[in-house]
Amino acid sequence: MKALPLGEVYQLLEPGPVVLLTTSRQGHRNVMTMSWHMMVEFTPPLVACVVSVADFSHAALRATKECVIAIPDVELAHKVVGIGNCSGADTDKFAAFELTPLPAEAVAAPLIAECFANLECKVVNTRLVKSHNLFILEVVKAWRDPAHKAPKTIHHQGFGRFVVDGDIIQVPSRMP
Ligand SMILES: Cc1cc2nc3c(=O)[nH]c(=O)nc-3n(C[C@H](O)[C@H](O)[C@H](O)COP(=O)(O)O)c2cc1C
Repeated sequence: MKALPLGEVYQLLEPGPVVLLTTSRQGHRNVMTMSWHMMVEFTPPLVACVVSVADFSHAALRATKECVIAIPDVELAHKVVGIGNCSGADTDKFAAFELTPLPAEAVAAPLIAECFANLECKVVNTRLVKSHNLFILEVVKAWRDPAHKAPKTIHHQGFGRFVVDGDIIQVPSRMP
């Protein structure tokens, strides 16, 4: 074993898949890239996610308490990185990256037509926002595009390097 710089630890533990998070505040829609998220409950589905205070999306999420988690496949990798390298403060990213917004059912934030799944979310807990930028989201409505038969998600390893979903194996397990 060789010592690993602590700043590189996240590259081993990033859970992925990399997702896009949309918000809409006072009619201003936006989208950012996010890889720091994890499930915390099955039903209702709860997701913990880190949205930095430095992100334009942070204030919108805090104010509106809703968002959409849109899940892109590998075909969108270049756009995903581009979206994560510019800010909604000065860019209409839906226009710049040619994404098609679709109306959601339960939230004002838009779905993204090009993504194979879209999760409408409400913020249900902000206790760790101040200290860690960590929001707990409840998924209140979920959509999947049947046209995407076997989408390959991308998993971030830092600085634009990704692992693409590979083989599926099945091992007997009682755990869901
Ligand atoms: C692959 C990738 C993953 C990212 N993951 C996160 C994340 O989990 N949380 C976060 O706050 N920012 C993350 N970012 C950075 C934001 O997407 C980036 O700061 C973006 O410009 C914010 O957009 P906004 O200012 O329009 O909200 C990631 C960027 C990339 C490229």
